Amino acid sequence: MEMPFKRDLRRAADRISEADRVTIISHIDADGISTEAILAQAIAREGIPVSSVFLRQLEPMAMRNVPRDDSLKLFADLGAGQQGLLEEHGLSAEEVLILDHHVSQPCGTAYPQVNCLDWGVTRMSAAGVAYMVAKTIDPDSIDLAKLAVVGNVGDMMARETCGLVGLAREIVQDGVDYGNIIVRERDLFCYGISTRPVHVCLGYNDDPYIDGVSNNPNAALRFLEKLNIELKNRQGGWLVWEELPFDDRRTIISALVQQLIAHGRECDRLLGETYIFPDEQERTPLRNASEYATLLNACGRWANPKVGGRICRGERGVAYREAEYMLANHRSVIRDLLNYILDTGVTELSHLQYIHTGDHFPDTIVGIGAGMALSKLDWRKPIMVLSALVDEPDVTKVSMRTNQWALARGVDLQEALAQASERVGGAGGGHRIAAGAFIPRDREEEFIDSVNRILRRQSATAGKNDR
Ligand code: C5P
Ligand code: C5P
Repeated sequence: MEMPFKRDLRRAADRISEADRVTIISHIDADGISTEAILAQAIAREGIPVSSVFLRQLEPMAMRNVPRDDSLKLFADLGAGQQGLLEEHGLSAEEVLILDHHVSQPCGTAYPQVNCLDWGVTRMSAAGVAYMVAKTIDPDSIDLAKLAVVGNVGDMMARETCGLVGLAREIVQDGVDYGNIIVRERDLFCYGISTRPVHVCLGYNDDPYIDGVSNNPNAALRFLEKLNIELKNRQGGWLVWEELPFDDRRTIISALVQQLIAHGRECDRLLGETYIFPDEQERTPLRNASEYATLLNACGRWANPKVGGRICRGERGVAYREAEYMLANHRSVIRDLLNYILDTGVTELSHLQYIHTGDHFPDTIVGIGAGMALSKLDWRKPIMVLSALVDEPDVTKVSMRTNQWALARGVDLQEALAQASERVGGAGGGHRIAAGAFIPRDREEEFIDSVNRILRRQSATAGKNDR
């Protein structure tokens, strides 16, 4: 590990250990919820009083929820990109610590920060940073590695590389050593391996696209039936991928590889690493990292991040039933959103495609819909989804998503949205591959045009550098 990273971790751990009281301010998504749960448990174990606030986004209105008291304010999974806001709010460098993985936008006050981007680590989420701080506070805290894996996977850190890599992968090993993570290497890299019948799992997946299987669960079932494999248990219920015998999994994977090759498609994204949690009940969404993350997202995006926090602390019973209910709702709204985007169609500009979903869907989930729609549209052009904020009618929420292909050609959504939103009096940021912004509603057109121009400039500059 880079030594300066270790030094930052040590400083952060000392600062937390010396605090009389800590307030954690975290984000409502799976990464934010797991980050908060890691930090709150690590801090409580030190005997330090800790309380938490969840924010949909760090923006001026939300700052009202940050207490003005003598506690150490631990901004986690947010803060790096909004340091000016902390300053405007009158927070001093002594009372703040930022643990983040978003692109920094520094200001006059030098807020102490641990940010994995500073050390060239791009494939790690805030939960990874939080876990490394927790482990620096107490090396025995490796039981919390599992939550860091949920946060990392929830923020898509395993997606492009078909598994976690680098420092995030080292964290997985802590969980394996502790005994609450099982790694399955070269497993089917598909969502739903613990809860969905195998044909549904395969039929809903389009990465990689498998002819005669993808986007069609009935066709996927016919494909599997030809393989003479037992797809149901003794009671007649469908088996899920995770519980299929090894030989049956191998037979299915071989058949899928053959199908991909027969249609001249790449096989490299079929398999990847999956992270299974042996301490969780089988056939539940808590049983693997990606489904666990969706459950947390469902809680957070539907305004109940604290229920997710209780799940992360091991509570089941009532909290789990509430979370399951939110998960069912989350899934169906996301399905509606995806269909809405595909049915309505996007407007294409030279360097982006966009759609305005008005007030049909909550602003907290449009980014997820944008990400899912991209592979089904022209995936070369970044997608922008605009949506109305119900509680703030003068403000529009913007979410953008792109992919590695576009990043390799110079696209940087963080830069585009930060610059374009500033020009219209809004604020935005995030990552090169996924970013968001809030802008004044009456300046949408000008904003979209400005983002398109910035993206054009980014592609042109990258093209020149290649020559
Ligand atoms: O606020 P935050 O950083 O957690 O948001 C991350 C968002 O970026 C998630 O919605 C995630 O799906 C998206 N993302 C992505 N592809 C990546 C990394 C992140 O779509 N490679
Ligand atoms: O909301 P959405 O999922 O589209 O956010 C994508 C990324 O952009 C997240 O990392 C989020 O933290 C960031 N973002 C931001 N400023 C905003 C809105 C989103 O930095 N105003």
